[in-house]
Parts: sequence; structure tokens; C-alpha cells
Amino acid sequence: MVNYKDLGLVNTKDMFKRAIAGKYAIAAFNFNNMEQMQAIIQAAVETKSPVILQVSSGARKYANQTLLRYMAQGAVEYAKELGCANPEIVLHLDHGDSFELCKSCIDMGFSSVMIDGSHFPYEENIALTKKVVEYAHQFNVTVEGELGVLAGVEDDVVAEHHTYTQPSEVVDFVSRTGVDSLAISIGTSHGANKFTPAQCTRDANGILVPPPLRFDILEEIEKEIPGFPIVLHGSSSVPQDLVAQINQYGGKLVDSIGIPEEQLRKAATSAVCKINIDSDGRLAMTAAVRKVFVEQPGEFDPRKYLGPARDTLKALYKLKLENVLGSAGKLAK
Ligand code: G3H
Ligand code: 13P
Ligand code: ZN
Repeated sequence: MVNYKDLGLVNTKDMFKRAIAGKYAIAAFNFNNMEQMQAIIQAAVETKSPVILQVSSGARKYANQTLLRYMAQGAVEYAKELGCANPEIVLHLDHGDSFELCKSCIDMGFSSVMIDGSHFPYEENIALTKKVVEYAHQFNVTVEGELGVLAGVEDDVVAEHHTYTQPSEVVDFVSRTGVDSLAISIGTSHGANKFTPAQCTRDANGILVPPPLRFDILEEIEKEIPGFPIVLHGSSSVPQDLVAQINQYGGKLVDSIGIPEEQLRKAATSAVCKINIDSDGRLAMTAAVRKVFVEQPGEFDPRKYLGPARDTLKALYKLKLENVLGSAGKLAK
């Protein structure tokens, strides 16, 4: 049993409280390898932001849970070495699907876990989430639950349509489970194709415009649980310059579209205090790697393409922290 505090990590409690009061949000960036971790930490240190490093089931399969945990421990030391005396770094399990998985992460030093019971019937979701909360809280580990289902692929489960979170359920869910934060469904979804062209309109230049997020549902939820930390998954914006770069250098992304940054900026000023971003990072790395491969076909040193990929990723994350989430300069001390 390792407690996250001994690794220099923090849970989400205090940072979420400050984010809600200060009308900004904390970024949760997924990481699977060293370059992604370095880019996240460099961006967080340079912008003086608290940050959440999150580990998905895909990351655990790809990189190994133990290695990722040690990498997060290294991230704390790395942040200090980069000049941040008191980094606020959370190591979070993204989309945990069982009590056993959450327990194994808590036992090895994760400071926060998500138990995603959103695909189960309501009472089963409550029972599972409550069980994880009871275990996690013994060690001060914070727990994120989810109500409502995002369209697209989530947790290896494919849902054709969104099942928006029902505001009438949130008080009951939060009070009976004891969760520390709640992920909701208001129109975001995972991946780089969040809407079909048929779901969008077109602007005067023929560019696809996605349907707006359901801010009306968010407002109703906030009325039910005032000041309670809300989480948005599936919040990549799918920057069109990255999509264009990927396609320019031989990629084939079709109709890729995300959540406009203005809408995320607006969400960040509400009780939404954690915004999950993974796909945009994937796009940034892929765009940079493809450019090197096409422009320097003789290059075969991985550092010569993973280095530019890391730099592009860091630049993207800095923009997110400064201009979208508003967490720059928000470290406690
Ligand atoms: O929740 C979805 C994240 O983007 C992680 O996806 O399991 O492919 O790493 P992954
Ligand atoms: P995106 O696919 O929009 O980046 O969402 C990531 C996410 O929600 C991880 O849990
Ligand atoms: Zn997610």
C-alpha cells in the first residue's frame, strides 16, 4: 500500500473548490508515455497550473499501470526540477470500470479515481460507486462518478445517442454515493468525430458548425447541487489546423469535429471544474510526426520525431491552460 501523499501527489478536493470559486477549470490530460507526460508537466509548470494526469484503460494496456504510476511520481520531481516548488499534480484513473481496478490504483498511489457506472442501471451505478467511495475515502482519495451516457465509444461501450444526465437524479446520486465530483452528459463525446455532418449546420464559408452543448441541462444540474464539482468528458476541440496538417502530410481524417473552445471557456466559468482532453493531444503528436516523416524521409532517430511531437503537444496544452480552461497562475502557492 502506497499513499499518494508520499509521492508528492494531491487529490482533487482543494483544487476543485478553488476552481469553482475562481470560475476556471482544471485540465485532465491523458498520458500513455514519457513524451506526453513531459509535455503536460512542462505546460503546467510554465503556466503555473494545477493539472490532472489521467490514465485510461487503453493506457494501462499499452504502458502498464505500474510504470505509469512511477512516471507520475517522476512527474512531481520533474516539475520541481523545472522550477515549480509546490506542484499540484493529481494522478487519476480515467473510466475505472470495477471496484477491483479502482482499489488497485488507490493501493498503488493514485490520488483520484473515476468509477464509471454510467452504463449500468441506476441502482447498480449507485451501489458500485458507493463501494468505491467508501474504500477511497479511507485514504483521502477523491472519486468521480458519472450519470448519463456520452454518445460514441466510452469505456469500450458504444452508444449511438447521448443519454443526457437527468437533473432530477443528481441530488439522489451525489448524496447516496458520497462522490466528490460528477461527470455529466450534455452533448460532448469522445474522439475526433464528435458529430456527424448531418448533426451540424454550415457557416457562410461551408465550414461545419456543431450543435451547441446543452447548457440548459448544466444550469438545471447546478441548481440541484449548487457548488458541487462537475466534470466534462469528451472535451477536445479538434483544432482544424492540426487536422489539416495531418491530411496535408498523408493522413486521412474525414469530417473530424470537436467542441468549440468558446463553449468550453463558458463551461469553465460554471461549476464545471474538470475538463478531459485526450484526442487533441493525439492530433498534435500525429500532425508533428507526419510532418517530420514527409519532410525528412531519411530520419530514423525516434527522438527526431518524438521531440517535435512533444513540443507541439506542449504548445497545445499551454494554449488550453491559458486561453480555454483559465487555470494559468492558479497554483495554491
Ligand atoms: O476515455 C477515453 C480516452 O480518450 C482514453 O482512450 O482508452 O483509447 O486510451 P483510450
Ligand atoms: P476527448 O476524446 O474529447 O479528448 O475526451 C477525452 C476524455 O474524455 C477522456 O476521459
Ligand atoms: Zn472520458
